[in-house]
Amino acid sequence: MTTGRFITVEGIDGAGKSSHLAYLAQAMRARGAEVVVTREPGGTPLGERLRELVLHEAMETVTEALVMFAARREHVVRVIEPALARGAWVLSDRFSDATFAYQCGGRGQDRRAFAALESVVHPGRQPDATFLFDLDPAVAASRQRAQQRTPDRFEREDEAYFRRVREAYLERARADPGRFRVIDASGSLEDVRGRLAAAFEAFAA
Ligand code: TYD
Repeated sequence: MTTGRFITVEGIDGAGKSSHLAYLAQAMRARGAEVVVTREPGGTPLGERLRELVLHEAMETVTEALVMFAARREHVVRVIEPALARGAWVLSDRFSDATFAYQCGGRGQDRRAFAALESVVHPGRQPDATFLFDLDPAVAASRQRAQQRTPDRFEREDEAYFRRVREAYLERARADPGRFRVIDASGSLEDVRGRLAAAFEAFAA
């Protein structure tokens, strides 16, 4: 039986979701819950090895999507489901919405085929809430440049790619308004934090 809650955060690279993860984890702990913070691709020893490959090794696009789902299967079975079963809150930095946004939206992979695979990888499981940090890709790119770290394979994609990724995220949010909380990620860190806090409190109330 599931008693915990499964929360995911999503958004294009540079939208700022990583900056807000610690805040969300702390807000959950303040409610007295055990909180498991995890990420995709990754979250398990095998998943982290797959992450290294998929972020840095050139591969064909269907292969790329399959690696995302392979890492996700390990994550679901070994981390997410056991944590939810013992009543923990699971906070994951990305989940399947990222595959539909980056591989289907960004790279044109077939959504229906991957929806079928999704039902094999995490049958009957979707996040209870997904906080989507939404930002204009041009602004996200300038934030990325300011960070000056070495970009991975996805971060090197052009603005047109991130426009497609953003649109695919927003399309998923429109299709499932009960699950998605779209956070306007423009403005200062404090502005975004305020919007996130309001959305989280509304969800957790
Ligand atoms: P990200 O959370 O951006 O890691 P970091 O903040 O450390 O750079 O995730 C890594 C990348 O993986 C990101 O560019 C999006 C990509 N990704 C996909 O393309 N498909 C997926 O299914 C997932 C989970 C991530």
